[in-house]
Amino acid sequence: MEHHDFETDGLWRSFLTLLHVAIVLVLLGLVFALSEKTINEYLNRPTFSKEHLEESLRKRGIARAVERQDDWGLIENGIHVKTGLKNDENLQLIISSCTSCHSAKLITQNRATRSGWRQMIEWMQATQGLPDLGQAEPKILDYLAKHYAPEQIGRRANLNMAEIEWYILNLEETE
Ligand code: HEC
Repeated sequence: MEHHDFETDGLWRSFLTLLHVAIVLVLLGLVFALSEKTINEYLNRPTFSKEHLEESLRKRGIARAVERQDDWGLIENGIHVKTGLKNDENLQLIISSCTSCHSAKLITQNRATRSGWRQMIEWMQATQGLPDLGQAEPKILDYLAKHYAPEQIGRRANLNMAEIEWYILNLEETE
């Protein structure tokens, strides 16, 4: 009887041991299954040679330069986006003659007749070191007088005070 008990105890114990081993194996399997992707991604991570990196930097540099070039020429609604100047056959002449010392804003925010523009150019020549514009001057003046002439239109007419229907603003209503 006792002998028989020993045997079942032994069997029982080895069964438990096997069960523990199995549980540990299943757990390890789970952990591996969960982290397999991460491990593989790490092991298969791309490696770049120095040449490859230099090549891709160079390509990106070229792409940026091209982008900048595109930006530079961009005209939207007749306006050269980079400078704000009106587009015209003489636009490049204006950009090269008139934007090296100051922003093109000084031009786009000014309005004058042809002789007014000539006076401004003469003033810059006399006091600000603007060189003689030679053959380019008439073209520049044409451009300025055409696109940045004094504005007669566009200003709203004066209010006719007699025709306005006034009303009392009732502040209490809104409370
Ligand atoms: C050599 C440098 C230089 C160049 C090139 C130059 N300017 Fe000027 N310009 C100046 C300076 C300096 C001022 C004064 C800036 C300020 O007040 O901040 C000025 C001012 C102006 C003003 C404002 C004048 C005012 O009364 O407020 C206008 C408009 C102007 N420039 C237009 C032009 C045009 C158009 C050209 C091209 C023909 C041109 N500039 C080229 C130096 C230059």
